[in-house]
Amino acid sequence: MTKKRVVTGVRPSGPLHVGHLAGVLRSWLELQESYECFFLLADVQALTTNFDRPDQISTDVREVILDWLSVGLDPQRSTFYLQSMLPEIAELTVFLGMLVPLSHVRRNPTIKSEAEQRGWESENLTYGFLGYPISQAADIMAVRGDLVPVGEDQLPHVEQTREIVRRFNRLYGPVFPEPQALLGEMPRLPGTDGRRQMGTSLGNAIFLIDDPETVRRKVMGMYTDPRRIHATDPGTVEGNPVFTYHDVFNPDGAEVAELKQRYRKGRVGDIEVKERLAVALNGVLEPIRRRREQLAMDIDTVDAAVRSGTRRARSEAAATMKTVREVMGISYPSLREQQQPG
Ligand code: TRP
Repeated sequence: MTKKRVVTGVRPSGPLHVGHLAGVLRSWLELQESYECFFLLADVQALTTNFDRPDQISTDVREVILDWLSVGLDPQRSTFYLQSMLPEIAELTVFLGMLVPLSHVRRNPTIKSEAEQRGWESENLTYGFLGYPISQAADIMAVRGDLVPVGEDQLPHVEQTREIVRRFNRLYGPVFPEPQALLGEMPRLPGTDGRRQMGTSLGNAIFLIDDPETVRRKVMGMYTDPRRIHATDPGTVEGNPVFTYHDVFNPDGAEVAELKQRYRKGRVGDIEVKERLAVALNGVLEPIRRRREQLAMDIDTVDAAVRSGTRRARSEAAATMKTVREVMGISYPSLREQQQPG
């Protein structure tokens, strides 16, 4: 039996933080064990919001690759590739666009809320931004993905992909597998300030590249139970981000249980709880930092991983597009130069 194929991507937007580690990266590391994984650096999708900052994206892409490799994603087993280097994805996006009613594009709730967050009026939305879920369908379909691990906000995009696949297969025959979203258990890590989500540019993130002292400082400044004034006040553990982090990152479950018990009874200070969290978190980050340092000195190896992944993904996408052109009736074998993509 062949392994199912996983496809997922990130829109690069700067260095990754421990929220990514808890949510996305740890689950990818597991998937890598049992599936054939395609991890996409969605740099074209990053243009939807960064088209006016051409200096930004390539820097962000570099950071993300280094982060991926340093947490242990393995180019021997998984395929890392750059969206902009697969022209087949752009081609497929155009073709799929023929099958998508405009009403479906407009009703996508994730697009609506992203536009709202950015204060974009519906009149000013670009064609590229409004259409990125179709390009994302092409990301998935170009390599014929079966499983798409994503966060909840991405479910509408996967649903849209499934609609497109069904319509395509009905019209032209069974070319594509109908992909399934993999929601998995991805804990959403709150920010150090207690806000619901950690965000790269929200000033509430602990980054994988932070040094031990920075991690410690950020942890010591974390939001905790605001009603607790003295170490002898009984404290609340539930919804307290310091304990959420302990649950996610502290490998010593007995220590965490003991701290919780003492906290509830007012027998431990916030400082001690945080000190122990800083130690645990630095323990998790240390091997990642070490690998990152090694990789930073060996950029050729890093580049080679992306080059070979991109080559591999591209040959999959080229095969897909050959079929797509055939079934859609625009293949012209006798007019085409017989050439492999480079
Ligand atoms: N839109 C996704 C995000 O912002 C990134 C993405 C791009 C993606 N292409 C994809 C996710 C294909 C899954 C499959 O997180």
